[in-house]
This record gives sequence, structure tokens and C-alpha cells, in this order.
Amino acid sequence: MANVGSMKALVYHGPGQKAWENVPDATIREPTDVVVKVDTTTICGTDLHILHGDVPAVTDGRILGHEAVGTVTAVGDAVKGFSVGDRVLVPAITKCGRCEYCQRSMPSHCQTVGGIGWIFGHLIDGTQAESVRVPYADTSLYAVPANVTNEQAIFLADSLPTGYEVGVLAGKVRPGDTVAVVGAGAVGLSAILTTGLWGASRVIAIDTNKFRLDKARDFGATDTVEAGDNTAADVLALTGGVGVDVSIEAVGYPETLLTAASLVRPGGTIANIGVHGVPVSLPMQDMWIQNVTLTMGLVDTVSIPTLLKMVASGRIPAEKMGTHSFTFAQMDEAYDVFANAAENSALKVVITPA
Ligand SMILES: NC(=O)c1ccc[n+]([C@@H]2O[C@H](COP(=O)([O-])OP(=O)(O)OC[C@H]3O[C@@H](n4cnc5c(N)ncnc54)[C@H](O)[C@@H]3O)[C@@H](O)[C@H]2O)c1
Ligand SMILES: [Zn+2]
Ligand SMILES: [Zn+2]
Repeated sequence: MANVGSMKALVYHGPGQKAWENVPDATIREPTDVVVKVDTTTICGTDLHILHGDVPAVTDGRILGHEAVGTVTAVGDAVKGFSVGDRVLVPAITKCGRCEYCQRSMPSHCQTVGGIGWIFGHLIDGTQAESVRVPYADTSLYAVPANVTNEQAIFLADSLPTGYEVGVLAGKVRPGDTVAVVGAGAVGLSAILTTGLWGASRVIAIDTNKFRLDKARDFGATDTVEAGDNTAADVLALTGGVGVDVSIEAVGYPETLLTAASLVRPGGTIANIGVHGVPVSLPMQDMWIQNVTLTMGLVDTVSIPTLLKMVASGRIPAEKMGTHSFTFAQMDEAYDVFANAAENSALKVVITPA
């Protein structure tokens, strides 16, 4: 038997239960694997859903987390593109590069790694750990340019590509468009930040949280609307009664999708990003005659190379996402602050070894 060392990791033990504890070291299992020492990780809203017991595929003993920046410490025999010592971004989506979905640029549905591209902290052990095994390293990892810091790159693992791909690109934002974003969490703010890159003339942020609305202006929103009974009327007034060209949903509740749908002009696009847990009843009797498009999906993270270039050149200030920093030993505190984001004026937390 190989000598099994030990490392520390955040282990899920059923709904509401997690512990930063000793586990066997991450090791190479397949020739296409690498092992990455985690230098920076963060927490996603999805991790909170898992801890609420909403994702039954995550079982007792699973190491959580699907976002990391780190250093390669071991390389499988078949890996050609990465070497020990490389600084890499570990994205939320793992891809084989060869299956039918990978070849259609839809690695969110990579069939080879487990039937879905999101496997870290879900189907295999994740990134909230001292080290992580990364399958299909050559096609999944990204080298981090020297002038991009870990505190910037970490937000390209999930929230930035999600806001950009599932919001801005799916919504087909074009120069001059008016865009509404319902929900100004990390994902909604990522949509706001990257909407500007497509020349939107007006970006309207909608949230119940005033701190998040202030942040939204800092991320490029031209207008903010506090969510409430008058949301639709307020947004229509801002658009001369017409409605927005693109309405992005970044919360994940029936009422917020209905709000997003109520804001769009005839011929416009509703881009749903939110993860929904229950059915939503849409007013199709009103919508059919509006010629609107409704899009939805799991992020592919295929925009990461583009986003990395724009962070490197200063066009995307990704570091603005991080509001709080913690060490691995403070993992519980990091979760508490992130889970109570409103009262802590928190957006994303940055977690490092020490
Ligand atoms: N499609 C994908 O691939 C994908 C990937 C990652 C995250 N997501 C989903 O995107 C959504 C947003 O993620 P996040 O990390 O930004 O979450 P978050 O919880 O940080 O942000 C949600 C925001 O919505 C606001 N909000 C709550 N109720 C509201 C209401 N009634 N009206 C307006 N705003 C309201 C909150 O104040 C908060 O600012 C979640 O549903 C998440 O699961 C989807
Ligand atoms: Zn996530
Ligand atoms: Zn694949």
C-alpha cells in the first residue's frame, strides 16, 4: 500500500454539518490528473445550498468547494500542458475535451467526468482543502498570467463566467441596450460588470439589499431600484414605458423570475441565471404575444480565457468581488460571514492557507 499522508479539508457530514478536519492527501489516480496545492479558495451560494441539504448528490464525507487558484504539486504521466510549480486556476467545470458536449463547447454537460461538468465538491472531493486532485487537467485547468493575482483569478472560477455566459452572452446584450439585473450578489454583479463590455447604455440593478445596490453602482450600474411592489413600474419609468432589451435573473426564486419577465420589452430576452428549486408558473397568456426569448443554463466556463485577458489588462476589476479575507483555520467564520452576507456587508470571501 502507498504511504497515505494527511491534509486538512472542509468535509460535509450531512445537512448543517461540516468540519475542517484531517483527510488522506489528494493524490494522482489517473494519468490525466494533476494535484494542486490550494493557495486561494472561496465559498459559493451553491455550497450553502449543499449545507441546507438541497443537493442530495453530495454525500457524507465529501470535501466541499469548486473554486480555487493554486500551485501544481504532482502531474500524471499523460499530462502535457502543466508542470510542477505552475500557478493555475481550477474552474467550477471540469472537461474531458473530447465527448460530444465538450466538442459542442458545452462542457457543463461533459459526459466523461461524471455526466455533468460540475464535479468538484459535488461528485468528487473539492477545493476547500489544502490540496485537490484535478481530473482531465490538460483540458480543464488555466494557467494564470503573471500580472493577474490570486485574489483576482479566484472569481473567474465560477461567478464571473456565470454572470457573463449565462447572463450577458445568453441574453445577447448589444451596444446601446438597456439591461436590468435582478439580484446583485456576486453573480448579478458579474453580469453588471461584463454587460458594460458590450456597450449597454443603461444597466439597472435591482435588489432588496442596499449595500449590494451601492456595490452595483461601483460595478457599473447606471441606475438602482430597491426591489418591492413598485419594481416593474420603476423600471418601466426608467425606460420610457418600453421595458428593457435584456432582463437578467440572478437570484433563483419564482418571484424574481416573474419580476425579470415583467421588465422585458417585446422582442427582448429574459436570461435566467438563478438555480431554481421549485416550479415557476409563467404568465404565458401574456408572454406569447411579446416575442420574448427565455434562456437558462449551467455555466460552461468557456469564457475564462477571455475574462483572464480582460482582468490582466485592467478592463475587469475582478478583485472588487472580495470583501472579506480568512485563513483555512477560520473556515467556519468564513462560512458564517458569507451565509449572513447582508448583515456583514459581504460579497465574496477570500480564503488562503495562512
Ligand atoms: N446557472 C449557473 O450556472 C449558476 C452558477 C452559479 C450560481 N448560480 C445561481 O445564481 C444565483 C445568484 O448567485 P449569487 O452567488 O450571486 O447569490 P447571492 O445569494 O449572493 O445573491 C442573490 C442576491 O439576490 C438578492 N435578492 C434576494 N431576494 C430578492 C428579491 N426578491 N428581489 C431582488 N433581489 C433579491 C439578494 O439580496 C442577493 O444580493 C443563485 O441562484 C445561484 O445558485 C447559477
Ligand atoms: Zn458556484
Ligand atoms: Zn467532455
